[in-house]
Amino acid sequence: MASALSVVVLAAGQGTRMRSRVPKVLHTLADRPLLAHVLDTAAALQPAAIYVVHGHGAEAVRAHFATRDDVHWVLQAEQHGTGHAVAQALPAIPREHRVLVLYGDVPLVEVDTLRRLLAAEGALALMTATLKDPTGYGRIQRDADGRVHGIVEQKDAGPEQLAIREVNTGILAADAARLGDWLARVDNSNAQGEYYLTDVVGLAATEGVEVASAQPDSIDEILGVNDRSQLAHLERVYQRRAAERLMRAGVTLRDPARFDLRGTLEAGQDVTIDVNVIIEGRVVLGSGVSVGAHCVLKDVTIADGAQIAAHSVLDGAEVGAGARIGPFARLRPGARLAAAVHVGNFVEVKASEVGEGSKINHLSYVGDAHVGAGVNIGAGTITCNYDGANKHRTVIGDGAFIGSDTQLVAPVTVGPGATIGAGSTITRDTPADELTLSRSPQRTVKGWQRPVKAPKPSEER
Ligand code: UD1
Ligand code: CA
Repeated sequence: MASALSVVVLAAGQGTRMRSRVPKVLHTLADRPLLAHVLDTAAALQPAAIYVVHGHGAEAVRAHFATRDDVHWVLQAEQHGTGHAVAQALPAIPREHRVLVLYGDVPLVEVDTLRRLLAAEGALALMTATLKDPTGYGRIQRDADGRVHGIVEQKDAGPEQLAIREVNTGILAADAARLGDWLARVDNSNAQGEYYLTDVVGLAATEGVEVASAQPDSIDEILGVNDRSQLAHLERVYQRRAAERLMRAGVTLRDPARFDLRGTLEAGQDVTIDVNVIIEGRVVLGSGVSVGAHCVLKDVTIADGAQIAAHSVLDGAEVGAGARIGPFARLRPGARLAAAVHVGNFVEVKASEVGEGSKINHLSYVGDAHVGAGVNIGAGTITCNYDGANKHRTVIGDGAFIGSDTQLVAPVTVGPGATIGAGSTITRDTPADELTLSRSPQRTVKGWQRPVKAPKPSEER
Protein backbone atom coordinates (compact mmCIF):
# COMPACT_ATOMS: atom_id res chain seq x y z
CA MET A 1 0.00 0.00 0.00
CA ALA A 2 1.25 3.49 -0.82
CA SER A 3 2.15 5.61 2.19
CA ALA A 4 -0.26 8.21 3.50
CA LEU A 5 0.10 11.61 1.90
CA SER A 6 0.77 15.00 3.48
CA VAL A 7 0.65 18.01 1.17
CA VAL A 8 2.75 21.09 1.93
CA VAL A 9 1.76 24.26 0.07
CA LEU A 10 4.32 27.07 0.07
CA ALA A 11 2.58 30.43 0.26
CA ALA A 12 4.69 32.67 2.45
CA GLY A 13 6.28 34.89 -0.21
CA GLN A 14 5.37 38.51 -0.66
CA GLY A 15 4.87 38.65 -4.39
CA THR A 16 6.65 42.00 -4.74
CA ARG A 17 6.08 42.16 -8.47
CA MET A 18 2.33 42.14 -8.05
CA ARG A 19 2.76 45.64 -6.56
CA SER A 20 -0.26 45.01 -4.42
CA ARG A 21 -1.43 45.37 -0.87
CA VAL A 22 -3.19 42.03 -1.28
CA PRO A 23 -1.02 38.96 -0.53
CA LYS A 24 -0.20 37.26 -3.81
CA VAL A 25 -2.01 34.00 -3.11
CA LEU A 26 -5.25 35.94 -2.54
CA HIS A 27 -5.17 37.41 -6.05
CA THR A 28 -7.89 35.73 -8.01
CA LEU A 29 -8.08 33.47 -11.01
CA ALA A 30 -11.62 32.94 -12.28
CA ASP A 31 -12.83 34.90 -9.24
CA ARG A 32 -11.17 32.59 -6.70
CA PRO A 33 -7.87 33.11 -4.88
CA LEU A 34 -4.86 31.37 -6.42
CA LEU A 35 -4.46 29.44 -3.20
CA ALA A 36 -8.03 28.13 -3.38
CA HIS A 37 -7.25 26.47 -6.71
CA VAL A 38 -4.18 24.80 -5.24
CA LEU A 39 -6.07 23.65 -2.14
CA ASP A 40 -8.81 22.12 -4.28
CA THR A 41 -6.24 20.26 -6.33
CA ALA A 42 -4.52 19.07 -3.16
CA ALA A 43 -7.83 17.97 -1.64
CA ALA A 44 -8.65 15.96 -4.76
CA LEU A 45 -5.68 13.73 -3.91
CA GLN A 46 -7.41 12.86 -0.62
CA PRO A 47 -4.33 13.46 1.52
CA ALA A 48 -4.15 12.79 5.24
CA ALA A 49 -3.45 16.49 5.76
CA ILE A 50 -2.71 19.75 3.95
CA TYR A 51 -0.24 22.25 5.44
CA VAL A 52 -0.06 25.80 4.17
CA VAL A 53 3.20 27.58 4.94
CA HIS A 54 2.24 31.23 5.07
CA GLY A 55 3.93 34.45 6.14
CA HIS A 56 3.28 37.65 4.21
CA GLY A 57 -0.24 38.86 4.88
CA ALA A 58 -0.69 35.88 7.20
CA GLU A 59 -3.84 37.12 8.87
CA ALA A 60 -5.55 38.10 5.65
CA VAL A 61 -4.70 34.76 4.09
CA ARG A 62 -5.95 32.73 7.08
CA ALA A 63 -9.08 34.85 7.39
CA HIS A 64 -9.94 34.21 3.78
CA PHE A 65 -9.93 30.46 4.32
CA ALA A 66 -11.43 30.53 7.81
CA THR A 67 -14.22 28.14 6.83
CA ARG A 68 -11.84 25.61 5.35
CA ASP A 69 -11.22 23.02 8.03
CA ASP A 70 -9.02 20.73 5.94
CA VAL A 71 -6.02 23.09 6.18
CA HIS A 72 -3.30 23.28 8.84
CA TRP A 73 -1.66 26.69 8.97
CA VAL A 74 2.11 26.82 9.46
CA LEU A 75 3.56 30.26 10.05
CA GLN A 76 6.90 31.08 8.45
CA ALA A 77 7.42 34.52 9.98
CA GLU A 78 10.60 35.20 8.01
CA GLN A 79 11.20 33.71 4.60
CA HIS A 80 14.62 32.10 4.46
CA GLY A 81 14.01 30.00 1.36
CA THR A 82 11.95 27.11 0.08
CA GLY A 83 13.93 24.55 2.12
CA HIS A 84 13.35 26.57 5.28
CA ALA A 85 9.65 26.83 4.38
CA VAL A 86 9.16 23.07 4.00
CA ALA A 87 11.15 22.48 7.20
CA GLN A 88 8.54 24.53 9.12
CA ALA A 89 5.83 22.04 8.22
CA LEU A 90 7.79 18.80 8.62
CA PRO A 91 7.70 18.43 12.42
CA ALA A 92 3.92 17.95 12.25
CA ILE A 93 4.10 15.30 9.53
CA PRO A 94 4.48 11.61 10.52
CA ARG A 95 7.82 10.23 9.35
CA GLU A 96 6.23 7.43 7.34
CA HIS A 97 4.16 9.83 5.21
CA ARG A 98 4.87 10.79 1.62
CA VAL A 99 5.21 14.59 1.30
CA LEU A 100 4.03 16.48 -1.79
CA VAL A 101 5.25 20.07 -2.10
CA LEU A 102 2.99 22.47 -4.04
CA TYR A 103 3.00 26.25 -4.43
CA GLY A 104 0.22 28.70 -3.60
CA ASP A 105 1.05 30.72 -6.70
CA VAL A 106 1.11 27.79 -9.17
CA PRO A 107 -2.64 27.32 -9.59
CA LEU A 108 -3.18 25.20 -12.67
CA VAL A 109 -1.33 21.98 -11.95
CA GLU A 110 -3.63 19.04 -12.72
CA VAL A 111 -4.59 16.27 -10.34
CA ASP A 112 -3.61 13.60 -12.89
CA THR A 113 -0.15 15.09 -13.29
CA LEU A 114 0.37 14.99 -9.53
CA ARG A 115 -0.86 11.40 -9.42
CA ARG A 116 1.81 10.55 -11.95
CA LEU A 117 4.48 12.18 -9.78
CA LEU A 118 3.21 10.36 -6.69
CA ALA A 119 3.27 7.05 -8.55
CA ALA A 120 7.04 7.39 -9.12
CA GLU A 121 9.15 4.93 -7.15
CA GLY A 122 11.88 5.93 -4.71
CA ALA A 123 12.47 8.36 -1.89
CA LEU A 124 12.41 11.48 -4.08
CA ALA A 125 10.56 12.47 -7.27
CA LEU A 126 10.70 15.80 -9.08
CA MET A 127 8.33 17.44 -11.49
CA THR A 128 10.49 18.77 -14.29
CA ALA A 129 9.76 20.42 -17.61
CA THR A 130 11.76 21.25 -20.70
CA LEU A 131 11.37 24.86 -21.73
CA LYS A 132 12.43 26.81 -24.80
CA ASP A 133 13.49 29.60 -22.47
CA PRO A 134 14.55 28.24 -19.08
CA THR A 135 15.58 31.67 -17.72
CA GLY A 136 14.89 32.09 -14.02
CA TYR A 137 14.33 28.44 -13.22
CA GLY A 138 16.56 25.99 -11.41
CA ARG A 139 18.23 23.66 -13.93
CA ILE A 140 18.11 19.88 -13.64
CA GLN A 141 21.56 18.30 -13.68
CA ARG A 142 21.79 14.79 -15.05
CA ASP A 143 24.81 12.55 -15.46
CA ALA A 144 25.81 10.73 -18.64
CA ASP A 145 23.30 7.98 -17.85
CA GLY A 146 20.51 10.50 -17.45
CA ARG A 147 20.39 10.17 -13.67
CA VAL A 148 19.46 13.34 -11.81
CA HIS A 149 22.27 14.40 -9.49
CA GLY A 150 21.38 17.96 -8.61
CA ILE A 151 19.56 21.20 -9.27
CA VAL A 152 21.41 24.46 -9.76
CA GLU A 153 19.58 27.74 -9.34
CA GLN A 154 19.75 30.38 -12.08
CA LYS A 155 21.65 32.75 -9.81
CA ASP A 156 24.23 30.09 -8.91
CA ALA A 157 24.68 28.62 -12.38
CA GLY A 158 27.63 28.89 -14.74
CA PRO A 159 27.27 29.25 -18.53
CA GLU A 160 27.15 25.51 -19.23
CA GLN A 161 24.48 24.96 -16.63
CA LEU A 162 22.48 27.92 -17.93
CA ALA A 163 22.28 26.17 -21.29
CA ILE A 164 20.29 23.30 -19.73
CA ARG A 165 16.65 23.53 -20.74
CA GLU A 166 15.21 20.96 -18.36
CA VAL A 167 14.02 22.95 -15.35
CA ASN A 168 12.80 22.37 -11.84
CA THR A 169 9.11 23.21 -11.51
CA GLY A 170 9.53 23.21 -7.73
CA ILE A 171 6.87 20.55 -7.26
CA LEU A 172 8.26 17.40 -5.69
CA ALA A 173 7.32 14.32 -3.70
CA ALA A 174 9.50 12.71 -1.04
CA ASP A 175 9.42 10.38 1.93
CA ALA A 176 8.92 12.54 5.01
CA ALA A 177 11.70 10.94 7.07
CA ARG A 178 14.33 11.21 4.32
CA LEU A 179 13.25 14.74 3.43
CA GLY A 180 13.64 15.79 7.06
CA ASP A 181 17.13 14.32 7.23
CA TRP A 182 18.23 16.04 4.03
CA LEU A 183 16.71 19.38 4.95
CA ALA A 184 18.56 19.34 8.27
CA ARG A 185 21.79 19.28 6.25
CA VAL A 186 20.93 22.03 3.76
CA ASP A 187 22.80 25.30 4.35
CA ASN A 188 22.44 28.79 2.92
CA SER A 189 25.86 29.26 1.34
CA ASN A 190 24.58 30.33 -2.07
CA ALA A 191 24.00 33.44 -4.15
CA GLN A 192 20.74 34.28 -2.37
CA GLY A 193 21.73 33.27 1.17
CA GLU A 194 18.65 31.03 1.31
CA TYR A 195 17.96 27.47 2.38
CA TYR A 196 17.12 25.89 -0.95
CA LEU A 197 14.68 23.00 -1.08
CA THR A 198 16.41 22.09 -4.32
CA ASP A 199 19.61 21.23 -2.45
CA VAL A 200 17.99 18.04 -1.15
CA VAL A 201 18.36 16.63 -4.66
CA GLY A 202 22.16 16.75 -4.54
CA LEU A 203 22.15 15.24 -1.04
CA ALA A 204 19.85 12.42 -2.12
CA ALA A 205 21.98 11.64 -5.18
CA THR A 206 25.12 11.54 -3.04
CA GLU A 207 23.43 8.92 -0.88
CA GLY A 208 22.81 6.87 -4.01
CA VAL A 209 19.07 7.61 -4.08
CA GLU A 210 17.63 7.29 -7.55
CA VAL A 211 15.82 10.62 -8.12
CA ALA A 212 12.69 10.05 -10.20
CA SER A 213 11.06 12.67 -12.39
CA ALA A 214 7.71 13.25 -14.02
CA GLN A 215 6.50 15.84 -16.52
CA PRO A 216 3.25 17.79 -16.81
CA ASP A 217 1.01 17.39 -19.87
CA SER A 218 1.23 21.09 -20.52
CA ILE A 219 3.71 23.78 -19.50
CA ASP A 220 0.83 25.96 -18.30
CA GLU A 221 0.36 23.58 -15.38
CA ILE A 222 3.67 24.54 -13.82
CA LEU A 223 3.57 28.28 -14.47
CA GLY A 224 3.60 30.48 -11.41
CA VAL A 225 2.15 33.93 -10.93
CA ASN A 226 4.73 36.58 -10.19
CA ASP A 227 3.10 39.61 -11.81
CA ARG A 228 -0.26 40.66 -13.17
CA SER A 229 0.69 39.84 -16.73
CA GLN A 230 1.34 36.20 -15.78
CA LEU A 231 -1.91 36.22 -13.84
CA ALA A 232 -3.76 37.37 -16.94
CA HIS A 233 -2.05 34.67 -19.00
CA LEU A 234 -3.12 31.94 -16.58
CA GLU A 235 -6.66 33.35 -16.50
CA ARG A 236 -6.81 32.85 -20.28
CA VAL A 237 -5.42 29.34 -19.94
CA TYR A 238 -8.02 28.53 -17.31
CA GLN A 239 -10.82 29.97 -19.44
CA ARG A 240 -9.68 28.12 -22.53
CA ARG A 241 -9.69 24.86 -20.56
CA ALA A 242 -13.13 25.60 -19.16
CA ALA A 243 -14.46 26.40 -22.63
CA GLU A 244 -13.02 23.20 -24.09
CA ARG A 245 -14.59 21.15 -21.31
CA LEU A 246 -18.00 22.69 -21.93
CA MET A 247 -17.79 22.22 -25.67
CA ARG A 248 -16.83 18.57 -25.18
CA ALA A 249 -19.91 18.26 -22.97
CA GLY A 250 -22.09 19.54 -25.81
CA VAL A 251 -22.37 23.29 -25.20
CA THR A 252 -22.05 25.59 -28.22
CA LEU A 253 -19.80 28.55 -27.50
CA ARG A 254 -19.98 30.98 -30.41
CA ASP A 255 -16.41 31.98 -29.56
CA PRO A 256 -14.57 30.02 -26.85
CA ALA A 257 -12.03 32.84 -26.58
CA ARG A 258 -14.78 35.22 -25.52
CA PHE A 259 -16.36 33.28 -22.69
CA ASP A 260 -15.63 33.52 -18.99
CA LEU A 261 -16.51 30.95 -16.37
CA ARG A 262 -16.01 32.30 -12.86
CA GLY A 263 -17.89 29.63 -11.02
CA THR A 264 -19.64 26.47 -12.16
CA LEU A 265 -21.90 25.87 -15.11
CA GLU A 266 -24.18 22.87 -15.49
CA ALA A 267 -25.73 22.78 -18.91
CA GLY A 268 -28.31 20.54 -20.55
CA GLN A 269 -28.21 19.52 -24.19
CA ASP A 270 -27.84 22.00 -27.02
CA VAL A 271 -27.21 25.09 -24.99
CA THR A 272 -25.88 28.00 -27.05
CA ILE A 273 -23.83 30.80 -25.55
CA ASP A 274 -22.98 33.86 -27.61
CA VAL A 275 -19.86 35.98 -27.19
CA ASN A 276 -18.72 37.79 -24.05
CA VAL A 277 -20.96 35.97 -21.63
CA ILE A 278 -19.75 35.82 -18.01
CA ILE A 279 -20.89 33.02 -15.73
CA GLU A 280 -20.48 33.55 -11.99
CA GLY A 281 -21.33 31.47 -8.94
CA ARG A 282 -23.46 28.41 -9.66
CA VAL A 283 -25.38 28.56 -12.91
CA VAL A 284 -27.66 25.84 -14.24
CA LEU A 285 -28.95 26.03 -17.81
CA GLY A 286 -31.59 23.61 -19.07
CA SER A 287 -31.61 22.00 -22.48
CA GLY A 288 -31.98 24.28 -25.46
CA VAL A 289 -31.31 27.46 -23.50
CA SER A 290 -29.69 30.24 -25.47
CA VAL A 291 -27.77 33.09 -23.94
CA GLY A 292 -27.18 36.20 -26.06
CA ALA A 293 -24.05 38.27 -26.31
CA HIS A 294 -22.75 40.27 -23.33
CA CYS A 295 -24.90 38.66 -20.65
CA VAL A 296 -23.78 38.22 -17.04
CA LEU A 297 -25.37 35.26 -15.25
CA LYS A 298 -24.70 34.79 -11.56
CA ASP A 299 -26.26 32.10 -9.36
CA VAL A 300 -29.17 31.52 -11.70
CA THR A 301 -31.21 28.53 -12.78
CA ILE A 302 -32.72 28.71 -16.23
CA ALA A 303 -35.14 26.02 -17.37
CA ASP A 304 -35.35 24.29 -20.74
CA GLY A 305 -35.77 26.34 -23.86
CA ALA A 306 -35.57 29.76 -22.23
CA GLN A 307 -33.90 32.50 -24.24
CA ILE A 308 -31.82 35.18 -22.64
CA ALA A 309 -31.23 37.98 -25.14
CA ALA A 310 -28.15 40.20 -25.32
CA HIS A 311 -26.97 42.49 -22.55
CA SER A 312 -29.09 40.97 -19.81
CA VAL A 313 -27.81 40.76 -16.24
CA LEU A 314 -29.26 38.01 -14.07
CA ASP A 315 -28.34 37.52 -10.43
CA GLY A 316 -29.94 35.10 -7.99
CA ALA A 317 -32.89 34.47 -10.29
CA GLU A 318 -34.91 31.49 -11.45
CA VAL A 319 -36.23 31.49 -15.00
CA GLY A 320 -38.93 29.07 -16.16
CA ALA A 321 -39.06 26.95 -19.28
CA GLY A 322 -39.51 28.78 -22.54
CA ALA A 323 -39.22 32.22 -20.94
CA ARG A 324 -37.87 35.12 -22.99
CA ILE A 325 -35.66 37.57 -21.17
CA GLY A 326 -34.07 40.76 -22.53
CA PRO A 327 -32.39 42.27 -24.37
CA PHE A 328 -31.23 44.63 -21.61
CA ALA A 329 -33.18 42.96 -18.81
CA ARG A 330 -32.08 42.87 -15.19
CA LEU A 331 -33.21 40.09 -12.87
CA ARG A 332 -32.12 40.58 -9.29
CA PRO A 333 -32.05 38.17 -6.35
CA GLY A 334 -35.36 36.53 -5.63
CA ALA A 335 -36.80 37.02 -9.11
CA ARG A 336 -38.69 33.78 -9.80
CA LEU A 337 -40.20 33.64 -13.22
CA ALA A 338 -42.50 30.79 -14.24
CA ALA A 339 -42.65 29.17 -17.66
CA ALA A 340 -43.18 31.29 -20.77
CA VAL A 341 -42.77 34.62 -18.98
CA HIS A 342 -41.53 37.50 -21.13
CA VAL A 343 -39.35 40.18 -19.60
CA GLY A 344 -38.18 42.75 -22.11
CA ASN A 345 -35.81 45.65 -22.39
CA PHE A 346 -35.02 47.90 -19.44
CA VAL A 347 -37.14 45.86 -17.08
CA GLU A 348 -35.91 45.19 -13.55
CA VAL A 349 -37.44 42.41 -11.47
CA LYS A 350 -36.43 41.88 -7.84
CA ALA A 351 -37.75 39.54 -5.11
CA SER A 352 -40.89 38.79 -7.07
CA GLU A 353 -42.69 35.76 -8.40
CA VAL A 354 -44.09 36.15 -11.90
CA GLY A 355 -46.67 33.56 -12.97
CA GLU A 356 -46.81 31.53 -16.13
CA GLY A 357 -47.08 33.40 -19.40
CA SER A 358 -47.05 36.86 -17.86
CA LYS A 359 -45.42 39.69 -19.80
CA ILE A 360 -43.43 42.68 -18.64
CA ASN A 361 -42.02 43.81 -21.90
CA HIS A 362 -40.74 47.35 -21.55
CA LEU A 363 -39.21 49.80 -19.08
CA SER A 364 -40.68 48.59 -15.80
CA TYR A 365 -39.71 47.95 -12.20
CA VAL A 366 -41.31 45.03 -10.42
CA GLY A 367 -40.03 44.57 -6.87
CA ASP A 368 -41.42 42.73 -3.83
CA ALA A 369 -44.38 41.65 -5.90
CA HIS A 370 -46.44 38.60 -6.59
CA VAL A 371 -47.58 38.65 -10.19
CA GLY A 372 -50.09 35.96 -11.15
CA ALA A 373 -50.31 34.02 -14.39
CA GLY A 374 -51.30 35.57 -17.70
CA VAL A 375 -50.74 39.13 -16.48
CA ASN A 376 -49.80 41.88 -18.89
CA ILE A 377 -47.79 44.70 -17.41
CA GLY A 378 -47.58 47.71 -19.71
CA ALA A 379 -44.53 49.82 -20.44
CA GLY A 380 -43.27 52.06 -17.68
CA THR A 381 -45.07 50.34 -14.82
CA ILE A 382 -43.54 50.76 -11.40
CA THR A 383 -44.25 48.93 -8.17
CA CYS A 384 -43.58 51.66 -5.62
CA ASN A 385 -42.37 49.22 -2.98
CA TYR A 386 -40.39 51.57 -0.78
CA ASP A 387 -41.93 54.31 1.31
CA GLY A 388 -38.57 55.66 2.41
CA ALA A 389 -38.50 53.44 5.48
CA ASN A 390 -40.04 50.07 4.70
CA LYS A 391 -40.61 47.77 1.77
CA HIS A 392 -44.16 46.71 0.90
CA ARG A 393 -45.62 44.06 -1.35
CA THR A 394 -47.70 44.40 -4.48
CA VAL A 395 -50.03 41.57 -5.44
CA ILE A 396 -51.36 41.32 -8.97
CA GLY A 397 -53.98 38.65 -9.63
CA ASP A 398 -54.09 36.25 -12.57
CA GLY A 399 -55.05 37.73 -15.90
CA ALA A 400 -54.81 41.36 -14.78
CA PHE A 401 -53.89 44.02 -17.34
CA ILE A 402 -51.83 46.94 -16.09
CA GLY A 403 -51.90 49.92 -18.47
CA SER A 404 -48.70 51.69 -19.36
CA ASP A 405 -47.10 54.21 -17.02
CA THR A 406 -48.89 52.95 -13.93
CA GLN A 407 -47.57 53.35 -10.41
CA LEU A 408 -48.71 50.68 -7.98
CA VAL A 409 -48.13 52.17 -4.54
CA ALA A 410 -47.55 49.19 -2.22
CA PRO A 411 -48.98 47.65 -0.19
CA VAL A 412 -51.65 47.17 -2.81
CA THR A 413 -53.53 44.34 -4.48
CA VAL A 414 -54.86 44.31 -8.02
CA GLY A 415 -57.69 41.76 -8.31
CA PRO A 416 -57.63 38.93 -10.83
CA GLY A 417 -58.79 39.97 -14.27
CA ALA A 418 -58.69 43.66 -13.31
CA THR A 419 -57.70 46.29 -15.84
CA ILE A 420 -55.80 49.39 -14.79
CA GLY A 421 -56.03 52.37 -17.10
CA ALA A 422 -52.79 53.78 -18.43
CA GLY A 423 -51.16 56.54 -16.44
CA SER A 424 -52.83 55.58 -13.16
CA THR A 425 -51.44 55.96 -9.68
CA ILE A 426 -53.01 53.10 -7.74
CA THR A 427 -52.98 53.55 -3.98
CA ARG A 428 -55.86 51.29 -2.94
CA ASP A 429 -56.78 47.70 -3.76
CA THR A 430 -58.64 47.34 -7.05
CA PRO A 431 -61.54 44.91 -7.60
CA ALA A 432 -61.35 41.87 -9.83
CA ASP A 433 -62.54 42.07 -13.43
CA GLU A 434 -63.25 45.83 -13.31
CA LEU A 435 -61.53 48.79 -14.96
CA THR A 436 -59.86 51.05 -12.43
CA LEU A 437 -58.05 54.21 -13.36
CA SER A 438 -56.90 57.39 -11.68
CA ARG A 439 -56.50 60.02 -14.28
CA SER A 440 -57.67 63.61 -14.51
CA PRO A 441 -60.22 63.92 -17.31
CA GLN A 442 -58.88 65.10 -20.63
CA ARG A 443 -60.13 68.51 -21.78
CA THR A 444 -59.62 70.72 -24.77
CA VAL A 445 -59.29 74.51 -24.47
CA LYS A 446 -61.06 75.88 -27.50
CA GLY A 447 -59.41 78.71 -29.41
CA TRP A 448 -56.25 78.63 -27.31
CA GLN A 449 -53.26 80.32 -28.96
CA ARG A 450 -49.62 79.48 -28.58
CA PRO A 451 -47.56 82.30 -27.08
CA VAL A 452 -45.46 84.25 -29.58
CA LYS A 453 -41.90 85.26 -28.91
CA ALA A 454 -41.47 88.78 -27.47
CA PRO A 455 -39.39 91.10 -29.78
CA LYS A 456 -35.74 91.71 -28.69
CA PRO A 457 -35.03 95.20 -27.16
CA SER A 458 -32.95 96.24 -30.25
CA GLU A 459 -35.91 95.64 -32.47
CA GLU A 460 -38.06 97.87 -30.24
CA ARG A 461 -38.94 101.27 -31.46
C1 UD1 B 1 12.11 27.95 -7.01
C2 UD1 B 1 13.13 26.82 -7.12
C3 UD1 B 1 13.57 26.71 -8.57
C4 UD1 B 1 12.38 26.49 -9.47
C5 UD1 B 1 11.36 27.60 -9.26
C6 UD1 B 1 10.09 27.30 -10.01
C7 UD1 B 1 14.28 26.77 -5.00
C8 UD1 B 1 15.51 27.13 -4.27
N1 UD1 B 1 14.24 27.11 -6.29
O1 UD1 B 1 12.79 29.13 -7.33
O2 UD1 B 1 14.49 25.65 -8.72
O3 UD1 B 1 12.81 26.49 -10.82
O4 UD1 B 1 11.02 27.70 -7.87
O5 UD1 B 1 9.24 28.40 -9.93
O6 UD1 B 1 13.38 26.16 -4.44
N2 UD1 B 1 8.40 30.55 -0.49
C9 UD1 B 1 8.02 30.47 0.84
N3 UD1 B 1 8.94 30.69 1.81
C10 UD1 B 1 10.23 31.01 1.52
C11 UD1 B 1 10.60 31.10 0.17
C12 UD1 B 1 9.67 30.84 -0.81
O7 UD1 B 1 6.87 30.19 1.14
O8 UD1 B 1 10.99 31.20 2.46
C13 UD1 B 1 7.41 30.31 -1.54
C14 UD1 B 1 7.18 31.56 -2.34
O9 UD1 B 1 6.06 32.26 -1.83
C15 UD1 B 1 6.93 31.04 -3.72
C16 UD1 B 1 7.66 29.71 -3.76
O10 UD1 B 1 7.92 29.37 -2.43
O11 UD1 B 1 5.56 30.77 -3.94
C17 UD1 B 1 8.90 29.75 -4.60
O12 UD1 B 1 9.80 30.64 -3.99
P1 UD1 B 1 10.77 31.54 -4.86
O13 UD1 B 1 11.67 32.25 -3.95
O14 UD1 B 1 9.98 32.35 -5.80
O15 UD1 B 1 11.59 30.46 -5.64
P2 UD1 B 1 12.19 30.61 -7.07
O16 UD1 B 1 13.34 31.55 -7.02
O17 UD1 B 1 11.15 30.87 -8.06
CA1 CA C 1 9.25 32.04 -8.14
